[in-house]
Amino acid sequence: MTSPRRTFAIISHPDAGKTTLTEKLLYVGGAIHLAGEVKARGQNRRARSDWMKIEQQRGISVTSSVMTFEKDGVTYNLLDTPGHEDFSEDTYRTLTAVDSAVMVIDAARGIEAQTRKLFEVCRLRSVPIITFINKVDREGRSPFELLDEIADILALDVTPMNWPIGMGGEFEGIMDLKSNRISRPDGDSRTFQGRTDEAALSDRFAEEVELAQGGYADFDPEAYRHGDLTPVYFGSALKDFGPAELIAALADFAPSPRPQPAEPAPVAPENKEVTGFVFKVQANMDPQHRDRIAFMRLCSGTFKRGMKLTPTGHGKPIAVHSPILFFAQDREIADEAFPGDIIGIPNHGTLRVGDTLSERAEVRFTGLPNFAPEILRRVALKDPTKTKQLRKALDDMAEEGVTQVFYPEIGSNWIIGVVGQLQLDVLLSRLDAEYKVAAVLEPAPFDTARWIAGDAADLKDFADLNRASMARDRDNNPVFLAKSAWEVGYIADRYSKVRFLATRER
Ligand code: G4P
Repeated sequence: MTSPRRTFAIISHPDAGKTTLTEKLLYVGGAIHLAGEVKARGQNRRARSDWMKIEQQRGISVTSSVMTFEKDGVTYNLLDTPGHEDFSEDTYRTLTAVDSAVMVIDAARGIEAQTRKLFEVCRLRSVPIITFINKVDREGRSPFELLDEIADILALDVTPMNWPIGMGGEFEGIMDLKSNRISRPDGDSRTFQGRTDEAALSDRFAEEVELAQGGYADFDPEAYRHGDLTPVYFGSALKDFGPAELIAALADFAPSPRPQPAEPAPVAPENKEVTGFVFKVQANMDPQHRDRIAFMRLCSGTFKRGMKLTPTGHGKPIAVHSPILFFAQDREIADEAFPGDIIGIPNHGTLRVGDTLSERAEVRFTGLPNFAPEILRRVALKDPTKTKQLRKALDDMAEEGVTQVFYPEIGSNWIIGVVGQLQLDVLLSRLDAEYKVAAVLEPAPFDTARWIAGDAADLKDFADLNRASMARDRDNNPVFLAKSAWEVGYIADRYSKVRFLATRER
């Protein structure tokens, strides 16, 4: 019998407290022993790779990682999502691999742009959400106002599970609305020291709590699991109010690994056959090795080390001899893994984002899209003898989903496409640091790209007539490069037999 799994991500706007909360969750989960370890680890990691300099300079997290810990018989897989808006594509893919999410909101700021975007991604896949309103140890907005905002902006029912007794200077503690017990700050730093007592509240707070208890829908686990209702916890990650309650909420309410959308039919975790999909590929994690790590979410079956898995649609079976499990403190070789777990599979470039892996290759997981790039640039080499290295680098990064690459049918200047500006910096920095290729990015004569689909004959006609705008992506799919979104519309009107796609599902 395997332990229950909770595979989840934290979504938030930068600065809301995701890193602090992650660290506290790992601490409460017994995975780390000192506060500050997550950041220290981050800095070590950064120091090892030039690429990570960007993270440091910009103060953001570029990569998404996985941390696994166990508490009270439950295994938690926490997938870290990059918080910066430029990385919505990578983040999107990470969110395809979770069964639920924790949404962190800053009590002074409420719902911010990035929270909202990430929330929409969760909603697309009906990922249930537990809300954590952070930083109540500081002055914040009224809890009622914050709850209304979540309900209005996100169109979700809200159920407060606890209540802050004052905020900022007035902060007296957090009251559990079911048991009426209050956890109080203690000691010099006024962090939570485990002291709780029965509520003895001033009139003002007693009235507030009464309103909170009476004024919202009761918590309905089913509505939560359908993504229609969010339980809301107030707390302070910094002062240790809330992380333990959040872990308990994940254990009590969050769904176990869910069936995953696939063709010909969704795959239930109970299926005996081992299946999974790759939601992220990361090259050069270790500068000593040129290998890539493919992050696979296991969707069904019991994975055993050495097992042979076949990527659907391409390639031969691969024997997975050294799978990696991401325990928070260290990577460990996995002997066994269960649905909901994330396995790192070292490989030399055979595995791509979106690949389905299975014992018998009869399924294909769906719903991991590529997005049409919003910025296109021509890549020019400073040293023309480096063409081969450049091609390899661009292919690698396209494979990881960092950038997309287009090889025009006419002409020799390769074009890269990204969804956000920051990815351009990442690209140049990695070209230089990892591939020793000095390149510059020049304006491209195109502004956007669309994958084209339709009858082979129609596609050929279209491509023949528009050769100067045609290119191939990394997987040899035909792509139409356009000067503007307006041009896409204009062309789409004229060629009604061809479909112009802004996303391509792999
Ligand atoms: P992020 O990953 O979402 O970007 O946020 P992060 O945890 O890095 O937190 C952003 C800032 O907010 C940090 O302060 C952090 O200490 C602070 N913070 C997080 N949780 C709480 C909380 O519950 N209460 C209060 N008062 N502050 C909180 P910083 O000054 O930017 O960084 P640092 O110098 O403290 O590391």
